[in-house]
This record gives sequence, C-alpha cells and structure tokens, in this order.
Amino acid sequence: MASERTLSIIKPDATERNITGLIVARLEGAGLRVIAQKRVWWKKKEAKKFYDIHEGQPYFKDLVAFMTSGPIVLQVLEGEDAIAKNRAVMGATNPVDAEPGTIRKEFAVNLQRNSVHGSDGPETAKREIGLCFKKSEIVG
Ligand code: TYD
Ligand code: MG
Repeated sequence: MASERTLSIIKPDATERNITGLIVARLEGAGLRVIAQKRVWWKKKEAKKFYDIHEGQPYFKDLVAFMTSGPIVLQVLEGEDAIAKNRAVMGATNPVDAEPGTIRKEFAVNLQRNSVHGSDGPETAKREIGLCFKKSEIVG
C-alpha cells in the first residue's frame, strides 16, 4: 500500500476538554504524520457542506449544531494506508462499540460527541482535504 492522505478533525468535545495533544499523540503513535493543521471555528454553512452526504438523516441538524459549537482542529494525516489506519485508531463511531485502546473508546463522550472525524475512503479524503485546506497549507 502506497503512502496516502486523509482528513482528520478533532471535534469540539475534545477541544473543550483540552485533549487535542493527547489525540495527536495517538495519531502519531499509530504511524501517521500531521502534514497540515489548523484550529478553526466553523460557521453553519461550512459544517453543512462538509457533512452534506448526511443531509436528511435524523441526526443531521444536531451534528451541524455540535460541529459549530466550539473550535475544532483540522488536520491532513499522511502515511502508509493512512485512511484505514486513521479509522482503526479512531475506533467505531459509537464509543460503546469501539475497541479498547482506540481514541473514541478512551476519549469520546457519546455517539455525537465522539472526539474525532476521519475520511472513510480515497474519494472522500480528496474531497474533504480540498474543502478544508489550500494546497499551500499542506506541508509534507
Ligand atoms: P458517520 O459518517 O456514520 O460516522 P463516522 O464519524 O464514524 O464516519 O457519521 C458522522 C457523524 O455523525 C458521527 O461521527 C456522529 C454523527 N452521528 C450521530 O450523531 N448519530 C448517528 O446515528 C450517526 C450514524 C452519526
Ligand atoms: Mg463518516
């Protein structure tokens, strides 16, 4: 598997609890490199666009409200098999189902306040990286 890039987000429940460094340490520990990173506070429009495939889902409105409720950290991660590696270290969407040792098992509050986002495939990763970063902000 060649080197890959994926989009990672540290969500508002984690910035609020001051655990962004702990989460980055987990990602780096899994062999991923942070090649772009910025702390932002999304407007509704940005959150809706990012999560537009979830539009119409019963949780969509609450998801957008949560993702705009505080600062987040946007990151591009790079490494061998980075998309799957990031999903593995994140753990299952609902922390109740997450494997021991994963970020969500360790840090997530619940299904909504689940601390991290990670792209779910190569096409998604490309789209999400393009939405969040200019080329000049990605420094490998
Ligand atoms: P999803 O893409 O299914 O999960 P993941 O973040 O693991 O890729 O859903 C996106 C986010 O939407 C998820 O992280 C939390 C939220 N969500 C809910 O609040 N309730 C739900 O029932 C689902 C499926 C997701
Ligand atoms: Mg997803």
